[in-house]
Amino acid sequence: MHAGVEPCEATGAIMTPIYQTSTYVQDGVGNHKGYEYSRTLNPTRHALEKALAELEGAKYGLAFASGLAAMDNLIKILKPGDEVISTDDLYGGSYRLFTTVFANYGIKFHFVDLTDSDAFISVLNENTKLVWIETPTNPMMKITDIKAVSESVSGNDVLVCVDNTFATPMLQQPLNEGADVVMHSATKYLGGHSDIVMGCLMLNNDALDEKLRTLQNSCGAIVGPMDSFLVLRGIKTLHLRMIRHSENGKAVVDYLSSHPKVEKVYWPGLESHPGHEIAKNQMTGFGGMISFIIKGNNIENAYKFVESLEIFTLAESLGGVESLVGHPATMTHASIPKEVREKVGVTDGLIRLSLGVEDVEDLIEDLSSALEKV
Ligand SMILES: Cc1ncc(COP(=O)(O)O)c(C=O)c1O
Repeated sequence: MHAGVEPCEATGAIMTPIYQTSTYVQDGVGNHKGYEYSRTLNPTRHALEKALAELEGAKYGLAFASGLAAMDNLIKILKPGDEVISTDDLYGGSYRLFTTVFANYGIKFHFVDLTDSDAFISVLNENTKLVWIETPTNPMMKITDIKAVSESVSGNDVLVCVDNTFATPMLQQPLNEGADVVMHSATKYLGGHSDIVMGCLMLNNDALDEKLRTLQNSCGAIVGPMDSFLVLRGIKTLHLRMIRHSENGKAVVDYLSSHPKVEKVYWPGLESHPGHEIAKNQMTGFGGMISFIIKGNNIENAYKFVESLEIFTLAESLGGVESLVGHPATMTHASIPKEVREKVGVTDGLIRLSLGVEDVEDLIEDLSSALEKV
């Protein structure tokens, strides 16, 4: 609630003012109050960056125009010839950024199952400079042991970055597990109200912060003061929302798991989930993201189901107060070739739910009547 935020010194305003300004008056050349130009820094964004850092227990926070812009900024510290080891199940846009943008600049990406240490070790080499972990993964909800991966590269010149979008700092704090950088699509739970697009990086290393901040200013994918204010406001209820998302997650998983038309449910809170024990160790709750398959695992039933829901809205994105449903194969993960996505389980029958904070009985009723139609 109070992370990084202080009342305005000039007026006492309890909420951080929206400094809608591009530049700042200088009394004499170079004589200013710490702000020169809003691409470099703006007081509202500054307050947000401090709040973001504090949430993840980090020394530094940097906010960007989107989650992908945050990733773009981080990857730009690499050079041609450098290699990245990434989880093989990840957000489609992250995969597209790696394979269609940065691969063209001579950076090599390996996509492996990070739950399999042999697979990881087999691609690790002296050119490896970054390990990209998404945990839980989008959309298969796979769990990677952050501490184990971080320990396996410690002492080498390899950064470990965790995309913590699904868990949020309320449920998981990767820096405490040994990761070097945490990334979020703040568009999701940190904002929490489906009204902004934003990304961020949090970290402790002074030299890396300096590099990232120079890139942030040089490349310019910054966030504006209004969006900064909205995320500062969203963060104030993050703890309450994540408790409710997780409670709704458990109730909906219990319902779906015992439904005769449901073939498989993916959620790390399930004891049968292969990553459940690791999730129990590194997370304090399992969240409100669920993927599942209707028996038969086909696109017709998946389409019929998602189009029959009334409270759940069919839309891209996740992490807002309202429940959303998505069809990863044709929506969030359409940029991953069919054979690549199917290998990790993103089949045409897979359905992804982002549970909001509505009354869970209403959500279950909605799911129940849509399941009747398939
Ligand atoms: C896990 C994950 N990482 C990164 C992103 C990209 O974030 P943005 O859409 O804010 O660019 C998304 C977007 O859906 C996501 O789900």
